Order: sequence, then C-alpha cells, then structure tokens
Amino acid sequence: MLDVDTGVDDACALLLAALHPGLDLRAVSCVGGNAPLVDVVRNTLTVLGLVGRRDVPVGVGAARPLLEDPVDARHVHGSDGMADLGLPVPLLEPDPRLAVELLRDTVAAAADAGTPLTLVPLAPMTNIALFARLYPAVFARIGRIVFMGGGANVSNATAAAEFNVFHDPEAAAIVLDACAVHGVAATMYGLDVFYDPLVTDEHVARLREIDSAAAQLGAALVSFHHRRFASGGATIGDAGAVAMLVCPDAVRTERLPVRVELTGSFTRGRTIVDRRDWTGDLAHDPHGLAPAQVDVALEINGPWIADVWLRTVGGEDW
Ligand code: RIB
Ligand code: CA
Repeated sequence: MLDVDTGVDDACALLLAALHPGLDLRAVSCVGGNAPLVDVVRNTLTVLGLVGRRDVPVGVGAARPLLEDPVDARHVHGSDGMADLGLPVPLLEPDPRLAVELLRDTVAAAADAGTPLTLVPLAPMTNIALFARLYPAVFARIGRIVFMGGGANVSNATAAAEFNVFHDPEAAAIVLDACAVHGVAATMYGLDVFYDPLVTDEHVARLREIDSAAAQLGAALVSFHHRRFASGGATIGDAGAVAMLVCPDAVRTERLPVRVELTGSFTRGRTIVDRRDWTGDLAHDPHGLAPAQVDVALEINGPWIADVWLRTVGGEDW
C-alpha cells in the first residue's frame, strides 16, 4: 500500500507499483503535500485509471499537516501537481472510506491472511501518524514501513530538512515512535539515494516509441522534469522506494538510530541519523539512544533501480 501526494514522482511510483508483476498494490491513500489534496486525489485516480487499475481503492486523507501550515511544491510538479499534462478528468471515484480507515482495513486484511503489509509512505506522513494514533493495535500489525523521507547527509526543503518530513515533522516523529513502540520494521529511503536513479532523454525517446498508456505517461512525466530543470536526466524520485522492494540488493542500508528535530529554528524537520558507535561509551549523551532503529538507505545502484522502472513502464517492448 502506498501513501502519496501525487506529484510527478509519486505518479512514477504509482506506475511501478500498479504494473510490476512482483508487486501486489492493495490500496493507495492520499495526503496534501506536493499539491492540494483535491489535486493529489485527482492525479492518483488519473494514473490508476490510465493503466487499468480501477481495482485499487484510493482513500482521501488529510488536507494539511498536523501543526504546520500547508505549503506545496507546485513549482516543482506543475500547477496541477502532475506536470500539467491536461489529462481528462478520471471517471474513477475515491473509496468511501477515509484514508485512515482504508489503512486500517488494508493492514488488518493482510495480517489476517498471514502476509503482513509493506506500507510505502511517499509523502508527508500525516495519514500514517493519524492511523497510528487512531488504530494502534492495527498499526502494530504492519509488516514493514518503507518511507521516502529525510536524509542522513542531504536535504532539499531547507538546509537541514527533506520536504516530506519538513512538511509535517510531528507526523514523522509520531510514526518513528510508533514503529519503535510496536516493533514495526522501518526503512528510510531518503535523499542520500533519492536523486541517483536517473531517466535520460534517450530513455524518454524510447518510451515515446512504445504504444501504451504507461509508457506514454511515464515519458511525459519524466520529460516534464527534464524541461523544468533543463537537464538531460531526471530522478524517478519516489519510484525508487518502490523499486527497492523488488530489488533490495540495489540499495545498501545500515540500521541506525533516527530522531526528528521538532524545535530547531533552522533545523526543524531534520532527520537526525546517529552514526556513532553505540557499543562504545556514549553514556555521557543526555539524549540517550534514539528509540527508533531504522534501516537507512545510504548507497544505491541508481541505474539498476531506474532500469526496473523503465522495464516495467515500457513493458514487453522495452
Ligand atoms: O523530498 C522529496 C519528496 O517530496 C518526494 O516524495 C516528492 O514527491 C515530494 O513529496
Ligand atoms: Ca511524494
């Protein structure tokens, strides 16, 4: 299950999750982030409808962060949040359940079936935090959370913080705390690896020759970022977090203590990844060991991850 703020790279992630034969996309929940919630929901339904995944329920979640005022990233993703492609309004409707109810039901059903769910937040974690607070016993039944957010050594929203965590720092802190309390495994796909899986102009040209909705949408999404950033290559962003589910060996992680800074004037929203040796003498540290032990992605085989996306979106003709 994905939690998204569809956005260009969330759309790339949705294409991969919806189409890869090794993945079973159960549901998607939406949150305000890259764009206002109404655009996020429309964009998400548009992508799923275009690739024939009307079976995937889409839940409407929080329109804004728990405390922060909402800001968006339409300067990055276009005024409609998804590359301003002028696509027709989707015929699909969102699920009648709220995002937290869809999260509850999807996590519970997977756990009941003996296959605990992998939850993939690719946005500010407001919905996930609300889910943890409203349904803690169900949250505890999640198999693993693989979230796109934060960074050990890299930031984008500010000099210290990554957009998803900066947008709702309290939510990120609540989710990490809930993972620690309930023993839910967590992987952080942060900015240290986020920018490495690149799709080039040449890749886009090949996708454009493939007569499928997925290939044409994928090409349009990536080429939007090529034009927006005047570059010959663009990251598939969030899609990398989904790709690592099918090729985990393409990403090197270390299990490290992680906290979220909530109070710093210039550091609010920073993910503090503690790389010190805790087998040594750190008893002097008044903060102590962070409760959340997270598998932090530190290195990635970018071409491998990008190839997973290209082969899935390009289909047999790739
Ligand atoms: O910082 C990158 C993240 O912020 C991505 O998830 C992108 O879609 C935006 O949500
Ligand atoms: Ca996103």
